[in-house]
Amino acid sequence: MRQSSLVVVANRLPIDDSVAPDGACEWRRSPGGLVSALHPLLRHAPATWVGWAGGTGPAPNLPDVDGVRMRTVPLDQDDLRDHYEGFANATLWPLYHDSVEQPQHHRRWWEAYQRVNQRFAEATAEVAEPGAVVWVQDYHLHLVPGMLRAIRPDLRIGFFLHVPFPPPELFMQLPRRAELLRGMLGADLVGFQRAQAAHNFAQLVAKVLDLPATDRRIGIDGRVVRIGAFPVSIDTAEMAALAARPDVAARARRLRQDLGSPEHVILSVDRMDYTKGIEQRLKAYSELLVSGHVKVRDTVLVQVAVPSRERVGQYQILRERVEREVGRINGEFGRVGEPAIHYLTQPFDRAELAALYRVADVMAVTPLRDGMNLVAKEYVAARVDDAGALLLSEFAGAAAELPQAYLVNPHDLEGLKQGLLESLHAAPADVRARMRAMRAHLHEHDIRAWARSYLRALDETGALVDRLTST
Ligand code: ADP
Ligand code: G6P
Repeated sequence: MRQSSLVVVANRLPIDDSVAPDGACEWRRSPGGLVSALHPLLRHAPATWVGWAGGTGPAPNLPDVDGVRMRTVPLDQDDLRDHYEGFANATLWPLYHDSVEQPQHHRRWWEAYQRVNQRFAEATAEVAEPGAVVWVQDYHLHLVPGMLRAIRPDLRIGFFLHVPFPPPELFMQLPRRAELLRGMLGADLVGFQRAQAAHNFAQLVAKVLDLPATDRRIGIDGRVVRIGAFPVSIDTAEMAALAARPDVAARARRLRQDLGSPEHVILSVDRMDYTKGIEQRLKAYSELLVSGHVKVRDTVLVQVAVPSRERVGQYQILRERVEREVGRINGEFGRVGEPAIHYLTQPFDRAELAALYRVADVMAVTPLRDGMNLVAKEYVAARVDDAGALLLSEFAGAAAELPQAYLVNPHDLEGLKQGLLESLHAAPADVRARMRAMRAHLHEHDIRAWARSYLRALDETGALVDRLTST
Protein backbone atom coordinates (compact mmCIF):
# COMPACT_ATOMS: atom_id res chain seq x y z
CA MET A 1 0.00 0.00 0.00
CA ARG A 2 1.48 3.34 -1.08
CA GLN A 3 1.33 5.98 1.62
CA SER A 4 1.08 9.78 1.41
CA SER A 5 2.21 12.69 3.54
CA LEU A 6 -1.12 14.46 2.99
CA VAL A 7 -4.45 12.67 3.12
CA VAL A 8 -7.79 14.35 2.48
CA VAL A 9 -10.77 12.45 3.84
CA ALA A 10 -14.22 13.39 2.55
CA ASN A 11 -17.40 11.42 2.13
CA ARG A 12 -17.40 12.06 -1.60
CA LEU A 13 -14.51 11.60 -3.99
CA PRO A 14 -13.88 14.50 -6.38
CA ILE A 15 -15.10 12.44 -9.32
CA ASP A 16 -18.37 10.73 -10.10
CA ASP A 17 -19.12 7.99 -12.56
CA SER A 18 -21.57 8.86 -15.26
CA VAL A 19 -22.62 7.39 -18.55
CA ALA A 20 -21.16 8.99 -21.68
CA PRO A 21 -23.36 9.47 -24.78
CA ASP A 22 -21.79 6.35 -26.33
CA GLY A 23 -22.84 4.29 -23.28
CA ALA A 24 -19.33 4.02 -21.82
CA CYS A 25 -18.71 4.79 -18.16
CA GLU A 26 -16.79 8.02 -17.70
CA TRP A 27 -15.62 9.98 -14.66
CA ARG A 28 -16.34 13.65 -14.13
CA ARG A 29 -15.93 16.15 -11.31
CA SER A 30 -18.73 15.90 -8.73
CA PRO A 31 -20.87 19.04 -8.28
CA GLY A 32 -20.84 20.50 -4.75
CA GLY A 33 -18.85 23.07 -2.86
CA LEU A 34 -16.48 20.75 -1.03
CA VAL A 35 -15.12 19.20 -4.20
CA SER A 36 -14.97 22.57 -5.96
CA ALA A 37 -12.85 23.92 -3.13
CA LEU A 38 -10.38 21.09 -2.73
CA HIS A 39 -10.02 19.77 -6.25
CA PRO A 40 -7.97 22.66 -7.65
CA LEU A 41 -5.82 22.72 -4.56
CA LEU A 42 -4.67 19.14 -4.60
CA ARG A 43 -3.90 18.87 -8.27
CA HIS A 44 -0.29 17.88 -8.63
CA ALA A 45 0.17 17.41 -4.86
CA PRO A 46 1.49 14.06 -3.62
CA ALA A 47 -1.75 13.43 -1.78
CA THR A 48 -4.35 10.72 -1.34
CA TRP A 49 -8.10 11.42 -1.25
CA VAL A 50 -10.11 8.91 0.78
CA GLY A 51 -13.80 8.87 -0.14
CA TRP A 52 -16.87 7.18 -1.54
CA ALA A 53 -17.23 6.83 -5.30
CA GLY A 54 -21.06 6.87 -5.33
CA GLY A 55 -23.11 3.71 -5.76
CA THR A 56 -23.27 0.63 -3.56
CA GLY A 57 -21.15 -1.90 -5.43
CA PRO A 58 -17.66 -3.00 -4.41
CA ALA A 59 -15.23 -0.07 -4.19
CA PRO A 60 -13.78 0.47 -7.68
CA ASN A 61 -10.04 0.86 -8.14
CA LEU A 62 -9.74 4.34 -9.53
CA PRO A 63 -6.82 5.83 -11.40
CA ASP A 64 -5.04 8.86 -10.00
CA VAL A 65 -6.86 12.11 -10.80
CA ASP A 66 -4.49 14.96 -11.66
CA GLY A 67 -1.77 13.28 -9.63
CA VAL A 68 -3.96 12.68 -6.57
CA ARG A 69 -4.42 9.06 -5.51
CA MET A 70 -7.98 7.90 -5.00
CA ARG A 71 -8.68 5.49 -2.12
CA THR A 72 -12.29 4.41 -2.36
CA VAL A 73 -14.38 3.47 0.66
CA PRO A 74 -17.38 1.28 -0.19
CA LEU A 75 -20.91 1.89 1.09
CA ASP A 76 -23.51 -0.88 0.85
CA GLN A 77 -27.28 -0.36 0.55
CA ASP A 78 -27.75 -0.11 4.32
CA ASP A 79 -24.86 2.35 4.70
CA LEU A 80 -26.22 4.48 1.88
CA ARG A 81 -29.69 4.59 3.40
CA ASP A 82 -28.75 4.98 7.06
CA HIS A 83 -25.41 6.82 7.01
CA TYR A 84 -25.48 9.03 3.90
CA GLU A 85 -29.20 9.58 3.31
CA GLY A 86 -30.13 9.12 6.98
CA PHE A 87 -27.84 10.48 9.66
CA ALA A 88 -25.78 12.78 7.41
CA ASN A 89 -28.52 14.19 5.19
CA ALA A 90 -31.79 13.80 7.10
CA THR A 91 -30.50 14.45 10.65
CA LEU A 92 -27.40 16.64 10.54
CA TRP A 93 -27.89 18.56 7.27
CA PRO A 94 -31.33 20.01 8.14
CA LEU A 95 -30.37 20.61 11.78
CA TYR A 96 -27.21 22.48 10.78
CA HIS A 97 -29.20 24.62 8.34
CA ASP A 98 -31.50 26.20 10.93
CA SER A 99 -33.91 23.22 10.79
CA VAL A 100 -35.50 24.70 7.67
CA GLU A 101 -36.74 21.12 7.23
CA GLN A 102 -37.46 18.94 10.24
CA PRO A 103 -34.41 16.82 11.26
CA GLN A 104 -35.24 13.16 11.79
CA HIS A 105 -33.79 10.85 14.41
CA HIS A 106 -33.47 7.07 14.16
CA ARG A 107 -31.25 4.88 16.31
CA ARG A 108 -30.38 2.67 13.32
CA TRP A 109 -28.92 5.69 11.51
CA TRP A 110 -26.53 6.35 14.36
CA GLU A 111 -25.26 2.75 14.22
CA ALA A 112 -24.53 3.17 10.53
CA TYR A 113 -22.85 6.54 11.05
CA GLN A 114 -20.44 5.02 13.56
CA ARG A 115 -19.76 2.00 11.35
CA VAL A 116 -19.02 4.09 8.25
CA ASN A 117 -16.87 6.59 10.17
CA GLN A 118 -14.83 3.66 11.53
CA ARG A 119 -14.35 2.35 7.98
CA PHE A 120 -13.12 5.75 6.81
CA ALA A 121 -10.75 5.98 9.79
CA GLU A 122 -9.27 2.56 9.02
CA ALA A 123 -8.84 3.30 5.31
CA THR A 124 -7.12 6.57 6.21
CA ALA A 125 -4.80 4.87 8.71
CA GLU A 126 -3.63 2.57 5.90
CA VAL A 127 -2.72 5.28 3.42
CA ALA A 128 -1.17 7.89 5.77
CA GLU A 129 2.59 7.74 6.10
CA PRO A 130 4.13 8.14 9.58
CA GLY A 131 3.54 11.68 10.86
CA ALA A 132 1.34 12.57 7.88
CA VAL A 133 -1.14 15.44 7.84
CA VAL A 134 -4.73 14.23 7.54
CA TRP A 135 -7.49 16.67 6.68
CA VAL A 136 -10.98 15.37 7.45
CA GLN A 137 -13.89 17.19 5.78
CA ASP A 138 -17.47 17.87 6.72
CA TYR A 139 -20.45 16.60 8.67
CA HIS A 140 -20.50 13.05 7.32
CA LEU A 141 -17.30 12.29 9.22
CA HIS A 142 -17.49 13.94 12.65
CA LEU A 143 -16.25 10.80 14.39
CA VAL A 144 -13.24 10.16 12.14
CA PRO A 145 -10.74 12.43 13.96
CA GLY A 146 -11.30 10.64 17.28
CA MET A 147 -11.33 7.16 15.73
CA LEU A 148 -8.21 7.89 13.70
CA ARG A 149 -6.30 9.25 16.68
CA ALA A 150 -7.06 6.01 18.54
CA ILE A 151 -5.42 3.97 15.73
CA ARG A 152 -2.69 6.42 14.66
CA PRO A 153 -1.67 8.87 17.39
CA ASP A 154 1.35 9.89 15.27
CA LEU A 155 -0.78 11.78 12.73
CA ARG A 156 -1.48 15.51 12.60
CA ILE A 157 -5.24 15.65 12.19
CA GLY A 158 -7.36 18.56 10.97
CA PHE A 159 -11.14 18.74 10.70
CA PHE A 160 -13.01 21.31 8.61
CA LEU A 161 -16.78 21.81 8.51
CA HIS A 162 -18.04 23.22 5.20
CA VAL A 163 -21.59 23.79 6.43
CA PRO A 164 -22.84 26.05 9.24
CA PHE A 165 -22.35 24.85 12.80
CA PRO A 166 -25.62 25.57 14.59
CA PRO A 167 -26.31 27.53 17.75
CA PRO A 168 -26.26 25.46 20.97
CA GLU A 169 -30.06 25.31 21.33
CA LEU A 170 -30.32 23.45 18.00
CA PHE A 171 -27.29 21.18 18.43
CA MET A 172 -28.52 20.21 21.90
CA GLN A 173 -31.44 18.39 20.24
CA LEU A 174 -29.10 15.70 18.93
CA PRO A 175 -29.39 12.52 20.99
CA ARG A 176 -25.68 11.78 20.35
CA ARG A 177 -24.38 15.32 20.84
CA ALA A 178 -21.59 14.36 23.27
CA GLU A 179 -20.17 11.67 20.98
CA LEU A 180 -20.19 14.01 17.98
CA LEU A 181 -18.31 16.73 19.85
CA ARG A 182 -15.81 14.26 21.23
CA GLY A 183 -15.25 12.84 17.74
CA MET A 184 -14.32 16.28 16.37
CA LEU A 185 -12.01 16.91 19.32
CA GLY A 186 -9.85 14.02 18.12
CA ALA A 187 -8.42 16.63 15.71
CA ASP A 188 -5.57 19.06 16.46
CA LEU A 189 -7.45 21.84 14.66
CA VAL A 190 -11.20 22.18 14.12
CA GLY A 191 -12.02 24.74 11.43
CA PHE A 192 -15.31 26.44 10.57
CA GLN A 193 -16.48 28.91 7.93
CA ARG A 194 -17.44 31.62 10.42
CA ALA A 195 -16.20 32.84 13.82
CA GLN A 196 -19.76 32.47 15.13
CA ALA A 197 -19.59 28.73 14.41
CA ALA A 198 -16.34 28.37 16.36
CA HIS A 199 -18.00 30.24 19.22
CA ASN A 200 -21.03 27.90 19.11
CA PHE A 201 -18.69 24.90 19.19
CA ALA A 202 -16.71 26.21 22.17
CA GLN A 203 -19.89 26.92 24.10
CA LEU A 204 -21.20 23.42 23.44
CA VAL A 205 -17.95 21.73 24.40
CA ALA A 206 -17.93 23.61 27.72
CA LYS A 207 -21.58 22.84 28.38
CA VAL A 208 -21.89 19.24 27.18
CA LEU A 209 -18.40 17.89 27.91
CA ASP A 210 -17.51 20.23 30.77
CA LEU A 211 -14.10 20.99 29.24
CA PRO A 212 -12.14 24.25 29.41
CA ALA A 213 -12.95 26.04 26.14
CA THR A 214 -12.42 29.45 24.57
CA ASP A 215 -13.22 30.46 20.98
CA ARG A 216 -9.61 29.57 20.09
CA ARG A 217 -8.55 26.63 22.26
CA ILE A 218 -10.01 23.61 24.01
CA GLY A 219 -8.19 21.38 26.46
CA ILE A 220 -8.88 17.63 26.34
CA ASP A 221 -6.90 14.60 27.59
CA GLY A 222 -3.79 16.72 28.17
CA ARG A 223 -3.88 18.04 24.56
CA VAL A 224 -4.85 21.40 23.16
CA VAL A 225 -7.29 21.47 20.25
CA ARG A 226 -7.24 24.73 18.32
CA ILE A 227 -10.41 26.06 16.78
CA GLY A 228 -11.00 28.91 14.36
CA ALA A 229 -12.70 30.37 11.30
CA PHE A 230 -11.26 29.74 7.82
CA PRO A 231 -13.75 30.92 5.16
CA VAL A 232 -13.36 28.64 2.17
CA SER A 233 -12.88 30.06 -1.32
CA ILE A 234 -12.37 29.20 -4.98
CA ASP A 235 -9.58 29.16 -7.52
CA THR A 236 -10.25 32.78 -8.51
CA ALA A 237 -7.52 33.01 -11.15
CA GLU A 238 -8.63 29.78 -12.82
CA MET A 239 -12.25 30.91 -13.08
CA ALA A 240 -11.20 34.36 -14.32
CA ALA A 241 -8.94 32.83 -16.98
CA LEU A 242 -11.69 30.47 -18.08
CA ALA A 243 -14.24 33.27 -18.31
CA ALA A 244 -11.81 35.42 -20.31
CA ARG A 245 -11.23 32.72 -22.94
CA PRO A 246 -12.48 33.84 -26.39
CA ASP A 247 -14.48 30.63 -26.89
CA VAL A 248 -16.23 31.15 -23.54
CA ALA A 249 -17.02 34.79 -24.39
CA ALA A 250 -18.37 33.62 -27.76
CA ARG A 251 -20.44 30.94 -26.04
CA ALA A 252 -21.87 33.58 -23.70
CA ARG A 253 -22.91 35.74 -26.67
CA ARG A 254 -24.52 32.73 -28.30
CA LEU A 255 -26.37 31.84 -25.10
CA ARG A 256 -27.78 35.36 -24.97
CA GLN A 257 -29.06 35.03 -28.52
CA ASP A 258 -30.54 31.63 -27.75
CA LEU A 259 -32.35 33.20 -24.81
CA GLY A 260 -33.98 35.63 -27.26
CA SER A 261 -31.54 38.54 -26.66
CA PRO A 262 -33.49 39.83 -23.65
CA GLU A 263 -32.55 43.05 -21.94
CA HIS A 264 -31.94 41.28 -18.62
CA VAL A 265 -30.85 37.74 -17.77
CA ILE A 266 -31.24 36.53 -14.18
CA LEU A 267 -29.31 33.35 -13.35
CA SER A 268 -29.41 30.95 -10.42
CA VAL A 269 -27.21 27.85 -10.09
CA ASP A 270 -27.95 25.53 -7.19
CA ARG A 271 -27.91 21.94 -6.14
CA MET A 272 -31.60 21.04 -5.81
CA ASP A 273 -31.66 21.59 -2.06
CA TYR A 274 -34.27 23.09 0.27
CA THR A 275 -31.58 25.26 1.87
CA LYS A 276 -31.06 27.15 -1.41
CA GLY A 277 -34.32 29.13 -1.31
CA ILE A 278 -35.36 28.09 -4.83
CA GLU A 279 -39.08 28.14 -4.06
CA GLN A 280 -38.94 31.59 -2.43
CA ARG A 281 -37.05 32.94 -5.44
CA LEU A 282 -39.58 31.51 -7.91
CA LYS A 283 -42.37 33.04 -5.88
CA ALA A 284 -40.70 36.46 -5.91
CA TYR A 285 -40.14 36.27 -9.67
CA SER A 286 -43.68 35.10 -10.28
CA GLU A 287 -45.16 37.95 -8.21
CA LEU A 288 -43.07 40.46 -10.17
CA LEU A 289 -44.50 39.00 -13.39
CA VAL A 290 -48.03 39.26 -12.01
CA SER A 291 -47.57 42.88 -10.94
CA GLY A 292 -45.99 43.72 -14.29
CA HIS A 293 -42.75 44.99 -12.74
CA VAL A 294 -40.98 42.37 -14.84
CA LYS A 295 -41.95 41.36 -18.38
CA VAL A 296 -40.96 38.09 -19.98
CA ARG A 297 -40.02 39.80 -23.21
CA ASP A 298 -37.32 41.89 -21.42
CA THR A 299 -36.28 39.61 -18.59
CA VAL A 300 -35.67 35.87 -18.41
CA LEU A 301 -34.75 33.69 -15.49
CA VAL A 302 -32.33 30.79 -16.04
CA GLN A 303 -32.57 28.35 -13.15
CA VAL A 304 -29.98 25.58 -13.08
CA ALA A 305 -30.89 23.04 -10.40
CA VAL A 306 -28.85 19.86 -10.51
CA PRO A 307 -30.68 17.04 -8.67
CA SER A 308 -29.12 16.04 -5.38
CA ARG A 309 -29.70 13.30 -2.74
CA GLU A 310 -32.57 12.07 -4.85
CA ARG A 311 -33.77 9.24 -2.64
CA VAL A 312 -34.23 11.45 0.44
CA GLY A 313 -37.93 12.27 0.86
CA GLN A 314 -37.50 15.98 1.52
CA TYR A 315 -35.47 16.33 -1.71
CA GLN A 316 -38.07 14.44 -3.75
CA ILE A 317 -40.82 16.67 -2.43
CA LEU A 318 -38.77 19.80 -3.18
CA ARG A 319 -38.08 18.73 -6.74
CA GLU A 320 -41.75 18.02 -7.40
CA ARG A 321 -42.77 21.38 -5.99
CA VAL A 322 -40.11 23.30 -7.91
CA GLU A 323 -41.02 21.58 -11.18
CA ARG A 324 -44.72 22.18 -10.64
CA GLU A 325 -44.07 25.86 -9.97
CA VAL A 326 -41.76 26.27 -12.99
CA GLY A 327 -44.45 24.61 -15.12
CA ARG A 328 -47.12 26.88 -13.70
CA ILE A 329 -45.11 30.06 -14.24
CA ASN A 330 -44.15 29.09 -17.78
CA GLY A 331 -47.74 28.08 -18.55
CA GLU A 332 -49.08 31.37 -17.27
CA PHE A 333 -46.46 33.85 -18.47
CA GLY A 334 -44.49 32.19 -21.28
CA ARG A 335 -45.21 32.30 -24.96
CA VAL A 336 -44.27 29.94 -27.76
CA GLY A 337 -40.47 30.09 -27.95
CA GLU A 338 -40.36 32.50 -24.97
CA PRO A 339 -40.52 30.70 -21.63
CA ALA A 340 -40.39 32.84 -18.49
CA ILE A 341 -37.97 30.40 -16.87
CA HIS A 342 -35.31 28.32 -18.56
CA TYR A 343 -35.05 25.37 -16.22
CA LEU A 344 -32.01 23.07 -16.52
CA THR A 345 -31.16 20.09 -14.34
CA GLN A 346 -27.98 18.94 -16.07
CA PRO A 347 -24.47 19.09 -14.71
CA PHE A 348 -22.31 21.43 -16.83
CA ASP A 349 -18.60 21.54 -17.41
CA ARG A 350 -16.65 24.47 -16.03
CA ALA A 351 -16.48 26.33 -19.37
CA GLU A 352 -20.26 26.19 -19.81
CA LEU A 353 -20.75 27.42 -16.24
CA ALA A 354 -18.33 30.28 -16.89
CA ALA A 355 -20.29 31.22 -20.05
CA LEU A 356 -23.54 31.18 -18.07
CA TYR A 357 -22.00 33.44 -15.43
CA ARG A 358 -20.87 35.85 -18.14
CA VAL A 359 -24.33 36.06 -19.60
CA ALA A 360 -26.05 36.78 -16.26
CA ASP A 361 -26.83 40.46 -15.61
CA VAL A 362 -28.11 39.46 -12.19
CA MET A 363 -26.88 36.39 -10.36
CA ALA A 364 -29.49 35.49 -7.74
CA VAL A 365 -27.91 33.51 -4.90
CA THR A 366 -30.54 33.50 -2.19
CA PRO A 367 -30.16 30.50 0.14
CA LEU A 368 -32.08 30.39 3.42
CA ARG A 369 -28.85 29.24 5.04
CA ASP A 370 -25.50 28.26 3.48
CA GLY A 371 -22.07 27.58 4.99
CA MET A 372 -20.36 29.66 2.28
CA ASN A 373 -21.84 29.36 -1.25
CA LEU A 374 -19.12 29.06 -3.83
CA VAL A 375 -21.43 29.81 -6.75
CA ALA A 376 -21.54 33.43 -5.56
CA LYS A 377 -17.74 33.57 -5.54
CA GLU A 378 -17.46 31.86 -8.93
CA TYR A 379 -19.78 34.44 -10.44
CA VAL A 380 -17.69 37.32 -9.14
CA ALA A 381 -14.48 35.69 -10.36
CA ALA A 382 -16.00 35.14 -13.81
CA ARG A 383 -17.00 38.82 -14.25
CA VAL A 384 -13.65 39.89 -15.66
CA ASP A 385 -15.58 42.70 -17.38
CA ASP A 386 -16.60 44.11 -13.95
CA ALA A 387 -20.24 43.96 -15.05
CA GLY A 388 -23.04 41.97 -13.43
CA ALA A 389 -24.90 42.35 -10.15
CA LEU A 390 -24.73 39.77 -7.39
CA LEU A 391 -27.96 39.44 -5.42
CA LEU A 392 -26.90 37.60 -2.30
CA SER A 393 -28.64 36.24 0.77
CA GLU A 394 -27.54 37.59 4.13
CA PHE A 395 -27.66 33.97 5.29
CA ALA A 396 -24.89 32.72 3.00
CA GLY A 397 -21.42 32.65 4.57
CA ALA A 398 -20.21 34.56 1.50
CA ALA A 399 -22.20 37.63 2.56
CA ALA A 400 -19.71 38.36 5.35
CA GLU A 401 -16.93 38.66 2.77
CA LEU A 402 -18.88 40.28 -0.04
CA PRO A 403 -20.77 43.17 1.58
CA GLN A 404 -20.80 44.99 -1.77
CA ALA A 405 -23.32 42.49 -3.12
CA TYR A 406 -27.01 43.49 -3.20
CA LEU A 407 -27.89 41.79 0.08
CA VAL A 408 -31.35 40.39 0.78
CA ASN A 409 -33.22 38.41 3.41
CA PRO A 410 -34.79 35.56 1.38
CA HIS A 411 -37.42 34.96 4.09
CA ASP A 412 -38.79 38.43 3.36
CA LEU A 413 -40.65 38.07 0.08
CA GLU A 414 -41.18 41.81 -0.40
CA GLY A 415 -37.50 42.42 0.36
CA LEU A 416 -36.50 39.74 -2.12
CA LYS A 417 -38.66 41.34 -4.83
CA GLN A 418 -37.19 44.76 -4.04
CA GLY A 419 -33.68 43.30 -4.18
CA LEU A 420 -34.36 41.72 -7.59
CA LEU A 421 -35.69 45.00 -8.95
CA GLU A 422 -32.85 47.01 -7.43
CA SER A 423 -30.19 44.75 -8.91
CA LEU A 424 -31.98 44.60 -12.29
CA HIS A 425 -32.15 48.38 -12.55
CA ALA A 426 -28.97 49.45 -10.73
CA ALA A 427 -26.87 52.13 -12.37
CA PRO A 428 -24.00 50.56 -14.35
CA ALA A 429 -21.44 52.64 -12.45
CA ASP A 430 -22.73 51.29 -9.12
CA VAL A 431 -22.70 47.73 -10.43
CA ARG A 432 -19.12 48.09 -11.64
CA ALA A 433 -17.84 49.66 -8.43
CA ARG A 434 -19.34 46.85 -6.37
CA MET A 435 -18.08 44.13 -8.68
CA ARG A 436 -14.59 45.57 -8.75
CA ALA A 437 -14.41 45.60 -4.95
CA MET A 438 -15.64 42.00 -4.73
CA ARG A 439 -13.20 40.82 -7.38
CA ALA A 440 -10.32 42.47 -5.54
CA HIS A 441 -11.32 40.65 -2.36
CA LEU A 442 -11.45 37.25 -4.08
CA HIS A 443 -8.18 37.88 -5.84
CA GLU A 444 -6.49 37.90 -2.42
CA HIS A 445 -8.75 35.49 -0.58
CA ASP A 446 -8.65 32.56 -2.95
CA ILE A 447 -8.47 28.83 -2.37
CA ARG A 448 -4.70 28.88 -1.89
CA ALA A 449 -4.96 31.57 0.78
CA TRP A 450 -7.57 29.44 2.53
CA ALA A 451 -5.42 26.31 2.44
CA ARG A 452 -2.36 28.28 3.51
CA SER A 453 -4.05 29.72 6.57
CA TYR A 454 -5.62 26.41 7.57
CA LEU A 455 -2.56 24.24 7.03
CA ARG A 456 -0.28 26.78 8.68
CA ALA A 457 -2.47 26.59 11.77
CA LEU A 458 -2.46 22.79 11.59
CA ASP A 459 1.08 22.00 10.57
CA GLU A 460 3.21 24.53 12.34
CA THR A 461 6.38 23.32 10.62
CA GLY A 462 5.03 24.94 7.45
CA ALA A 463 6.52 22.27 5.18
CA LEU A 464 3.21 21.23 3.67
CA VAL A 465 1.98 24.76 3.23
CA ASP A 466 4.87 25.71 1.00
CA ARG A 467 4.53 22.61 -1.14
CA LEU A 468 0.78 22.89 -1.64
CA THR A 469 0.33 26.57 -2.15
CA SER A 470 3.37 27.53 -4.17
CA THR A 471 1.91 26.36 -7.53
P1 ADP B 1 -23.09 23.35 -2.18
O1 ADP B 1 -21.77 23.13 -1.57
O2 ADP B 1 -24.22 23.39 -1.21
O3 ADP B 1 -23.38 22.44 -3.32
P2 ADP B 1 -21.84 25.73 -3.36
O4 ADP B 1 -22.44 26.88 -4.05
O5 ADP B 1 -20.87 26.07 -2.28
O6 ADP B 1 -23.05 24.83 -2.80
O7 ADP B 1 -21.06 24.82 -4.37
C1 ADP B 1 -21.68 24.27 -5.49
C2 ADP B 1 -20.61 23.88 -6.49
O8 ADP B 1 -21.18 22.97 -7.43
C3 ADP B 1 -20.07 25.06 -7.27
O9 ADP B 1 -18.68 24.92 -7.47
C4 ADP B 1 -20.82 24.97 -8.59
O10 ADP B 1 -20.10 25.48 -9.70
C5 ADP B 1 -21.02 23.48 -8.73
N1 ADP B 1 -22.26 23.22 -9.50
C6 ADP B 1 -23.50 23.59 -9.16
N2 ADP B 1 -24.38 23.24 -10.12
C7 ADP B 1 -23.67 22.65 -11.08
C8 ADP B 1 -24.00 22.09 -12.35
N3 ADP B 1 -25.26 22.06 -12.82
N4 ADP B 1 -23.00 21.56 -13.08
C9 ADP B 1 -21.72 21.58 -12.60
N5 ADP B 1 -21.36 22.10 -11.43
C10 ADP B 1 -22.32 22.63 -10.67
C1 G6P C 1 -22.14 20.33 0.20
C2 G6P C 1 -21.51 19.54 1.32
C3 G6P C 1 -20.54 18.52 0.76
C4 G6P C 1 -21.24 17.66 -0.29
C5 G6P C 1 -21.89 18.53 -1.36
C6 G6P C 1 -22.67 17.73 -2.39
O1 G6P C 1 -21.13 21.02 -0.43
O2 G6P C 1 -20.85 20.42 2.22
O3 G6P C 1 -20.01 17.71 1.78
O4 G6P C 1 -20.34 16.75 -0.88
O5 G6P C 1 -22.76 19.45 -0.73
O6 G6P C 1 -23.58 16.89 -1.78
P1 G6P C 1 -23.55 15.30 -1.94
O7 G6P C 1 -24.57 14.79 -1.00
O8 G6P C 1 -23.89 15.06 -3.38
O9 G6P C 1 -22.16 14.84 -1.63
